[in-house]
Amino acid sequence: MTTRILTGITTTGTPHLGNYAGAIRPAIVASRQSDADSFYFLADYHALIKCDDPLRIQRSRLEIAATWLAAGLDVDRVTFYRQSDIPEIPELTWLLTCVAGKGLLNRAHAYKASVDKNVEAGEDPDAGITMGLFSYPVLMAADILMFNAHQVPVGRDQIQHVEMARDIGQRFNHLFGQGKEFFVMPEALIEESVATLPGLDGRKMSKSYDNTIPLFSNAKEMKDAISRIVTDSRLPGEAKDPDNSHLFTLYQAFASKAQSDEFRADLLQGLGWGDAKQRLFQLLDSELGEARENYHRLIERPADLEDILLAGAQKARRIATPFLGELREAVGLRSFRETTQTVAATKKKASKGARFVSFREDDGSFRFRLLAADGEQLLLSEPFTDGKAAGAVMKTLQQLDKLDARPASNQRQFDVWLDNRIVAKSPIYDTNGVMISALLTLPQMKNPQD
Ligand code: TRP
Repeated sequence: MTTRILTGITTTGTPHLGNYAGAIRPAIVASRQSDADSFYFLADYHALIKCDDPLRIQRSRLEIAATWLAAGLDVDRVTFYRQSDIPEIPELTWLLTCVAGKGLLNRAHAYKASVDKNVEAGEDPDAGITMGLFSYPVLMAADILMFNAHQVPVGRDQIQHVEMARDIGQRFNHLFGQGKEFFVMPEALIEESVATLPGLDGRKMSKSYDNTIPLFSNAKEMKDAISRIVTDSRLPGEAKDPDNSHLFTLYQAFASKAQSDEFRADLLQGLGWGDAKQRLFQLLDSELGEARENYHRLIERPADLEDILLAGAQKARRIATPFLGELREAVGLRSFRETTQTVAATKKKASKGARFVSFREDDGSFRFRLLAADGEQLLLSEPFTDGKAAGAVMKTLQQLDKLDARPASNQRQFDVWLDNRIVAKSPIYDTNGVMISALLTLPQMKNPQD
């Protein structure tokens, strides 16, 4: 079984070394495991909650996209997209908002911290707090539940949000699932070893502490930042304590075991801090130099990045569109037309008692139909002049494990292909979503009876 791994990065800033070592690098490593099915995205709807500067949002999306790719993300292996290219996400957010308890959201750390600050300042508790901030965890739940992620690699500050996603998803399952679990329960995944890269001052590296080391800007900026790493006042020649030096921690995060051991020994023997900083710079420069070049090449080709992200969105929507169609059905947002097929009903029909029936048209041509157990037409073949040919195609289809069904250009009908041609068509459905659901249920039929 594959493990679905999903994580997003809020697009409000330029990625720094901490983001890289704590989130991007381990996510890329995880995506290479053979059983991993990874979904990585730019959380640009979340960015709007924290930032009302359009230029900054745009710049950050570009930089974060380029960072993932420069760091070696293989977009053929993973699904890489912008949250805002998936309209199903805000739609799911609303469905989830309608089952999320307000009391649950009142307890969210980020919201509570803002309230506490207001109260301390003698302000109205909700002063300056938007509904975006309050509902932040619901949007995040939609990100996670939309793709039924099993594992969600995040920082510690996000664990509560993943727990809320479980809570909200469970509630939805209970209310609308009728025994079926629409949503998988996600787990937060914390990488203990890399979760907290220290910044220049030894606190967690974070933009909000202004203690970051830039990742891909240029060598000089990296050098300048490294020169500002806070150390103790021991002089060259005096033994240093590697275990109480965040400079050493930073070094370790990028070094091999042998390099770390050597650096440790040299510090113990009195390596000066100036030399130590130079060593750290050299290490980072050699580890990141190539990726930095890739990064600048990518940033200069925003149209290519756009294409990559749109292709990723398309891939993501192949899952999101039919799934949301199912969820809409479940809550009662259904078409009024009689021909509407509820997805659950389609599934049942498709998997049980479907059958092929051949017949002859008035014009003498031969055709066959695939009918569900209740007689509803699932497929109608193209006309054949020769009855034997029609029969042969029908037999072949019966023996396939999986029909080769592809959406037609109108997006509300699908075609069944055999040997490079269309041999049958579905009915025209009311919506693209219903069509896709019907399409996805087709392959469940094995050897329907003649
Ligand atoms: N809230 C996360 C953060 O700030 C970013 C994020 C948004 C996310 N949606 C997500 C992370 C879904 C994991 C899964 O770090």
